[in-house]
Amino acid sequence: MNMISKAKMANLSEFGKKIAQPSGISQLMDDLGNALAQSRNILMLGGGNPAHIPAVQEHFRKSMHDLLERGREFEQAIGDYDPPQGNTRFIEAVAALLQNELGWDIGPRNIALTSGSQSAFFILFNMFAGAFEDGTKKKILLPLAPEYIGYCDVGLADDLFVARKPEISHTADHTFKYYVNFDELSITDEIGAICVSRPTNPTGNVLTDAEIDKLSALARARDIPLIIDNAYGPPFPNIIFTEAKPVWNDNTIVCMSLSKLGLPATRTGMVIAREEIIGMISQVNAVMSLAPGGMGAAIASELVRSGEILRLSRDVIKPFYQTKATAAVEQLLKELNGVDFHIHEPEGAFFLWLWLRGLPIRDHELYERLKKRGVLVVPGHYFFPGLTEPWQHKYECIRINYSQDPDIVARGLTLIADEVKRAYDAA
Ligand SMILES: Cc1ncc(COP(=O)(O)O)c(C=O)c1O
Repeated sequence: MNMISKAKMANLSEFGKKIAQPSGISQLMDDLGNALAQSRNILMLGGGNPAHIPAVQEHFRKSMHDLLERGREFEQAIGDYDPPQGNTRFIEAVAALLQNELGWDIGPRNIALTSGSQSAFFILFNMFAGAFEDGTKKKILLPLAPEYIGYCDVGLADDLFVARKPEISHTADHTFKYYVNFDELSITDEIGAICVSRPTNPTGNVLTDAEIDKLSALARARDIPLIIDNAYGPPFPNIIFTEAKPVWNDNTIVCMSLSKLGLPATRTGMVIAREEIIGMISQVNAVMSLAPGGMGAAIASELVRSGEILRLSRDVIKPFYQTKATAAVEQLLKELNGVDFHIHEPEGAFFLWLWLRGLPIRDHELYERLKKRGVLVVPGHYFFPGLTEPWQHKYECIRINYSQDPDIVARGLTLIADEVKRAYDAA
């Protein structure tokens, strides 16, 4: 994709400049895409794509076949606009599943679909933060940075995020875990909502039940929502390797997605929230796109209605990624021997967050060197939206996606370990 030139930008509105402006992340994504396009041999450990899991894809293929076979359902799926809230049958099935499986006190009026959960974050963050009628400006608090890179540029107002550094707990010689530092977490009038991804992209962290309960209580005390980004969490896709209680209440907004289940191209996000918030999301859907696309709902409806999606998530998807996580950690423990490295406990999602303490070069330089060697990762400093204070740690980490073929991941990790050692040795 070509970036818009500076000259052309002059004719754009403030909104146009903000939203269409090349950002650090769009440039990084371009760079990743170009590197991939230029060499078919590149080892892609950089993107956020889920794996193509044959046993899961078989189900999607069958769903598609069934859809084609059943009466007029296919024609309806492609030929009718859904309501702005999203496909009714799918929403009913999701509501029933969440009630039955998790005991959440919700109904279909508590769910809206969006074009991927990414667009839900765009709507929610700009609804709860930015400029207010009384002249105040509010922000979204990310209580534990590093956080998801995709939040960075969704703010229509400048500086939409404020983030806090975590506490670091070393769990073994070469593993660690981040915790929310509640001592530093004052929630002032400036905060319009709190948001966490759980499991977290990029670190694989899963906030503990106690942390979520505390955040939920803080949000309620301030009468602001707690937004939980559950793109990887239970009950589907359930890429979570620890025990964690899925939480919803009338002050919580849970965002879910079909993407990490294996359907990112259908762009299907789900927002679970109080009725009036769902009403507002539907309203924005109507303005932005008339209705969310319905193909994801059409493919997944029966899987959700029958509960098969739970079995797939629990018995196929979760073990698939957990096995990969274990293999990747074992390999790095062996191959990085001698380096002051620390891997975040992989508790969910499909990324390893590698902290190279005292790394003599910056994360971006390491990224460039790795790209030259034919392996793509994501430099860590991009994952700190809203954290403005200087912190060397930001430049000592990289994110590695371990979801691809074992051979690709193994070769990529070997190159990473070798390049990292070279960097330390040269210092
Ligand atoms: C934590 C997190 N949230 C949200 C998303 C967005 O997912 P989608 O818009 O495909 O639903 C992603 C995608 O990588 C993610 O990692």
